[in-house]
Amino acid sequence: MATRRLPRPSEVLPLIGSGDHGKSRLQRKLERCASISDVRELARKATPKAVFDYTDGGSMSESTLDRSRDAYRRVEFTPRVLRNVAEVDVSTSFLGQLNALPFAFAPTGFTRMMHHVGEPAVAAVAQKAGIAYGLSTLGTTSIEALATASPDVRRWFQLYVSRDRTQAEDLMRRARDNGYDSLILTVDTAVGGIRWREVRNGLTIPPHLTLNTLLDMSRHPRWWANVLTTEPLSFASLDSTGGTVGDLLTRVFDPGVTVEDIAWIRENWNGPIMVKGVQSLADSQILADLGVEAIVLSNHGGRQIDSGNVPLELLPGVVDAVGNQTEVYVDGGIMRGSDIVAALSFGATGTLVGRAYLYGLMAGGQDGVQRVLDILTKEIKVTMQLLGANSIDQLDRSMVRLRPY
Ligand SMILES: Cc1cc2nc3c(=O)[nH]c(=O)nc-3n(C[C@H](O)[C@H](O)[C@H](O)COP(=O)(O)O)c2cc1C
Repeated sequence: MATRRLPRPSEVLPLIGSGDHGKSRLQRKLERCASISDVRELARKATPKAVFDYTDGGSMSESTLDRSRDAYRRVEFTPRVLRNVAEVDVSTSFLGQLNALPFAFAPTGFTRMMHHVGEPAVAAVAQKAGIAYGLSTLGTTSIEALATASPDVRRWFQLYVSRDRTQAEDLMRRARDNGYDSLILTVDTAVGGIRWREVRNGLTIPPHLTLNTLLDMSRHPRWWANVLTTEPLSFASLDSTGGTVGDLLTRVFDPGVTVEDIAWIRENWNGPIMVKGVQSLADSQILADLGVEAIVLSNHGGRQIDSGNVPLELLPGVVDAVGNQTEVYVDGGIMRGSDIVAALSFGATGTLVGRAYLYGLMAGGQDGVQRVLDILTKEIKVTMQLLGANSIDQLDRSMVRLRPY
């Protein structure tokens, strides 16, 4: 029989409450998010429907998006055991520089719509973590302002080529002058994708005040207060507005861009070029032969062509064909750190992550992005340890396969 005694107050007091004194309600909510899917649900509650749908959605039936995510659910690992995984190094090299984690934050447009701070909140987290961040041509923070806000973040600039080529040349010059070391040329956007959610929600640039938006204000007062009391929402590198984002892409950017233009970009850009939005082995080969430093197998997160193919499925064949000529990155559908480990095991140099950090941004600004980074980091480390790999270069194809449909 155990002897019983009365507890002392000093033993009981520390047990009262959650133990997270000094943390805001938001930080506590974020800490209770176990996964990126949990953060996504917080994001849904924090933002108007049109904003959440803009970020979360894909083109038309969203089959490209769904299958890109589903592919990661078909991943099956073959763990190796009895290996020393006491220490695990998740750093790697992207385009000749150390990246502390095997992913970078992808360029995303209209970011201040998701949260009023926008790009600087994302860059601050990237800077602290030691990973690269791509600023979009459709960014809502200027090339210069982002460089000033996060001078030490590794910055990449994502270019959409405008019909007026001098505009694109000017953006490249400004990016170079402001310490952006690599150029991401996005090529899956000859015209804007058709996004049914945007049409149904009537999302336009800038957002219009309709009866629905006014109703929404009562449900998301904080989001609206932030939007209405900070710098008006606009594209920092464009002066064209009106219509949906898809309309804007079609109106402003040049559908006549071809591989011949890589030479023109080289004349205006003296750093590495990463071509993003490659969706076939044939184009991977052409670009590798042209000498681009990196390609990103990407379908724009399922926001452009519907019924498109799945980057993860293309990856092994592309790595086999051009992996010794150029770096091969992959994105689209990544929701867990284990998805990133799977891509690396199939031979990717690294991955980009888009929506995952945007969910964090919508849910809680910089704190939300930080939470997403922490979740992904932990999931990458634990997956690698359970897989028997203590560094990225130990991951290989013997450890992974895609189960057939
Ligand atoms: C809301 C949103 C906006 C985006 N805007 C851009 C953009 O301006 N330029 C670009 O190259 N890619 C853009 N992308 C695509 C991302 O760079 C990336 O390829 C994609 O998000 C990866 O898929 P994931 O969201 O499933 O991670 C955008 C994606 C989202 C979700």
